[in-house]
Amino acid sequence: MNLIAPSILSADGSRFAEEIVAVEKAGADWIHIDVMEGHFVPNITMGPAIISALRKTTKLPFDVHLMIENPDRYIESFAAAGADIITIHVEAANHLHRTVDLIKKYGKKAGVSLNPATPLTQIEEILPDIDLLLIMTVNPGFGGQQFIKTTLPKIARASQLLSALPDKPLLEVDGGVNLKNIADIARAGARIMVAGNSIFSNSDYIKAIAELKTAAN
Ligand code: DX5
Ligand code: ZN
Repeated sequence: MNLIAPSILSADGSRFAEEIVAVEKAGADWIHIDVMEGHFVPNITMGPAIISALRKTTKLPFDVHLMIENPDRYIESFAAAGADIITIHVEAANHLHRTVDLIKKYGKKAGVSLNPATPLTQIEEILPDIDLLLIMTVNPGFGGQQFIKTTLPKIARASQLLSALPDKPLLEVDGGVNLKNIADIARAGARIMVAGNSIFSNSDYIKAIAELKTAAN
């Protein structure tokens, strides 16, 4: 069963709590939270204080995607705020293994993410140590961008690499996921689909999530 993780970057920011409750009722599996600090990506979003406040709204896993430089400095804060999965970018981590270890030290699932142009060879050595690999299918920074089709064979190759490992880390895809491409993404081997615009631009979240799930499974 493939999972849907609505990205609240595309939700109504004045009503994050209600939006989370609404997508949970509509069948969301995880809540994807995009953290940006204006250095690694050209946008600024939210930090641990907001995540901690939102933690009370749901029991769904918080899938926290850190698009920040020097992630080591903030792992403890995001763990304390209630993140369940903490994903860092390979392009932003100088000592990837150390940061992955740190995430696990706080009892959280450790994810590593790759930008569209970053080759899989950059993470081959860390794969046995991680819980999740996040393949970006847009250049990170904004919701509502178009899926970059050349990432599909990369997803398929990533899936093969992961399935050869004893612990089989999860494969997640983020960026431009919609009803037209989600079946192809699932066929390529992704298991968790982040979806921002394709859920929150609809008035009916139940229908939007149900259609994505049907197409993905
Ligand atoms: C992009 C973020 C994504 C984004 C996805 O930097 O990491 O999670 O919110 O939004 P959509 O599905 O609209 O591309
Ligand atoms: Zn994201």
